[in-house]
Amino acid sequence: MQADLDRILFDEATIHRRLDELAARISRDYRDRELTVVAILNGSVFLIADLLRRIPLPLKLDCLSVASYHGQAKPSGELVFRQVSMPDVAGRDVLILDDILDSGMTLSTIREKLEAAGPLSVRICVLLEKKKNRTRTIEPDYVGFEIADEFVVGYGLDYKERYRNLPCIGVLRKDLIAPTE
Ligand code: IMP
Ligand code: MG
Repeated sequence: MQADLDRILFDEATIHRRLDELAARISRDYRDRELTVVAILNGSVFLIADLLRRIPLPLKLDCLSVASYHGQAKPSGELVFRQVSMPDVAGRDVLILDDILDSGMTLSTIREKLEAAGPLSVRICVLLEKKKNRTRTIEPDYVGFEIADEFVVGYGLDYKERYRNLPCIGVLRKDLIAPTE
């Protein structure tokens, strides 16, 4: 799988070091509160495991399963929820966890839906933030790494459901991305 990468951006050790820092900040910010983490599957699966194990606070974990890309390399503009009901976040301090902030469509839609349930607070944590002009304004509170507007895979991130299990994050070779995308 590594041969399909144009280059590696962050190896496993670099990701884990950065998670140490993010977890320390989150633990400080929420030390007197009970956190409700709403994680967005599938992309954040390794982030959930590696980040949350570094936070020594009582917390509740809810997962949402959404699809925005339909296996393509460009957003389709439509978000498909795979479960019927949203987690009950009324009166809770919510931290939304996702792999990557790209167009902002996913996170702004989910934040809007959660805010309608009357949470105490809502913050956003993403491992990666693409530097680009976004259709939706989203300011994440915790960001692992800023990256250029390139298509990346690994550490949970996929292209057509492949590469999620790569331990590092890298830029996918352009010749492997279907030309229409
Ligand atoms: P947004 O709604 O455009 O912000 O897209 C967010 C979702 O698109 C992420 O949760 C990813 O699943 C997917 N995505 C965006 N950029 C990439 C990428 O470079 N590689 C893999 N998946 C991506
Ligand atoms: Mg995703």
